[in-house]
Amino acid sequence: MSQSQRSRCVLITGATGAIGGALARAYAGPGTHLVLHGRQMAKLEALAETCHLRGAQVTLSTINLTDSHALQVWLNELCAQQVPDIVIANAGKNTHPQGPDILEPWADVQALLDLNLKTPIAMVQHLVPAMQARGSGQLVLISSLAAWHGLPTTPSYSASKAGIKAYGEGLRGLLAPRGIGVTVVMPGYVTSPMCEAMPGPKPFEWPPERAAKVIKRGISANRARISFPFPLNFGTWWLAVLPAGISQWLIKRLGFNLPGDSPRD
Ligand SMILES: NC(=O)c1ccc[n+]([C@@H]2O[C@H](COP(=O)([O-])OP(=O)(O)OC[C@H]3O[C@@H](n4cnc5c(N)ncnc54)[C@H](OP(=O)(O)O)[C@@H]3O)[C@@H](O)[C@H]2O)c1
Repeated sequence: MSQSQRSRCVLITGATGAIGGALARAYAGPGTHLVLHGRQMAKLEALAETCHLRGAQVTLSTINLTDSHALQVWLNELCAQQVPDIVIANAGKNTHPQGPDILEPWADVQALLDLNLKTPIAMVQHLVPAMQARGSGQLVLISSLAAWHGLPTTPSYSASKAGIKAYGEGLRGLLAPRGIGVTVVMPGYVTSPMCEAMPGPKPFEWPPERAAKVIKRGISANRARISFPFPLNFGTWWLAVLPAGISQWLIKRLGFNLPGDSPRD
């Protein structure tokens, strides 16, 4: 099949979630092969039905993303069929301290780092050789505005998202000469079960469809960073550039301290 005839392959993990599902629907159309990953087959099948109706070819998977062997086997099999053109490493989870002075349980922290940080890096390791051989590909890593400055309500999550942001930024320069683009996405609050469960205020919350539209547009332009919404992005960006003492003071005043923690400490 010639390059112009072959379908564009878009792989999305976390497709059973709010942002991943909205991205799948946004990409669904004739000439697109969607590879959708999630843990819930019934949800994936319902999403596949919608995407089929929009004209897309759909392949589903429920493999355990944090099982590095299973991940490698799955991605090798995919690449043997068709090397993905766009890979959106979107699956993610959050944990929260249960109160001031209480660390998140270590088992939860490890599981979070495995999924939010190690899994996208492992996916890059397995996919890049095939993309390099072809000379094209777009890797999309979902970070968060929480990567600009760690929040007391989500220290481990902030660390995982800062880690994947730094990784993607570094990777972009490394892979550009071989025709592979890397985009880091930093969403603010987007309506989803994960967002719902997050403590603290949620200013400028967006519906997932709006987030997916902005992410898709940024990916097609091979943007290095897609961060939104503007007011929250601008505000949290300042937290990264101001002296740390002022940022810590602001974070408390803005209400991102834990319930029971005095905002005046
Ligand atoms: N929503 C926000 O406000 C926000 C802001 C910044 C960044 N983000 C990031 O955006 C991404 C998508 O989040 P979302 O808001 O769409 O959340 P969501 O609706 O809760 O979806 C999370 C997705 O990750 C999957 N997932 C969770 N734990 C998993 C595991 N152990 N193994 C494999 N898959 C797992 C879920 O699968 P199941 O459906 O099977 O549980 C689901 O598909 C995440 O990386 C998140 O950190 C979200």
